[in-house]
Amino acid sequence: MKFFLDSAKVDEIRYARDMWSIDGVTSNPRHIRNSGKPFLRVLQEIAKEFEGTDKTISVEVNPHHTTADAMVEEAVKLAAMSKNFVIKVPATEAGFKALSLLHAKNIRVNLTLVFSVAQAIQAARLGATYVSAFVGWKEANGEEISHMVGEMVRVYRNYDYKTEVLVAAIRNARQIVEAAVAGADIVTAGFDVYKDAFDHPYTAKGLQLFADNWDATPYQ
Ligand code: E4P
Repeated sequence: MKFFLDSAKVDEIRYARDMWSIDGVTSNPRHIRNSGKPFLRVLQEIAKEFEGTDKTISVEVNPHHTTADAMVEEAVKLAAMSKNFVIKVPATEAGFKALSLLHAKNIRVNLTLVFSVAQAIQAARLGATYVSAFVGWKEANGEEISHMVGEMVRVYRNYDYKTEVLVAAIRNARQIVEAAVAGADIVTAGFDVYKDAFDHPYTAKGLQLFADNWDATPYQ
C-alpha cells in the first residue's frame, strides 16, 4: 500500500520524502492556505521536490467552479505545470463531466470528496486515476467506513478498473491498518498522524531496557 502525505507544507513534505519514503502528496485548498504561501508559488515549490520522479502530487482546482468547462480549463493549466500533478475535481455532476473530458485529454484526475461506493464506481467508469474516499469526515459524521472501502476495492477488482482507491482524511494508525486490510491502494494522512503511527511507547521503553542491560554487560 502506498503512503501519501496530506499537506502543502514544503518542510513536512521534504521530511516525509527523505525519512519515510513517502510515495506522493495530496493537497487541498485548506492545506494550501495552511502553507502560508500563494497557490501557484507553493505548487511550484512542491513540484520541484519531486521533479524527475514518478511520485504524484494531487492538486485541487478552484472549488468555486460550477461547470465542467471551468474545471477543465484550470486543470489543463495546472497539469502543464508538472508531470507529477494529478488534478483533483469534486464528485459533483460537473466534476464527473470534467473527469471524463480530462481523461480524454490524458490528464490524470483524483476524484475528491467521495463518500459512497456508487460515486466511486462512476469515477472508475469515467477513468479516474484515484478516487479519494474521505473516511475521517464520514466517521466524524457517525457513519461506518470499513465496509465502504472494502466494497470499493471489491467492485474495482470485479470489473478490473484501474482506478486506485485512495483512503483520505485518515486520523489515526488504526484507520491506516483498516484501509490496508480492506485492500486500499493508498492512504493519505497528515504529518502528525504518520509520526504517531510509526511510533509506539513500548519501542522506546524496550530500547531503554536493552540499553541498560547492554551497559551492565562487558563487551569482550
Ligand atoms: C485528501 O486528499 C484530502 O486532502 C484530505 O484528506 C481532506 O481531509 P482533511 O484535510 O480533513 O484530513
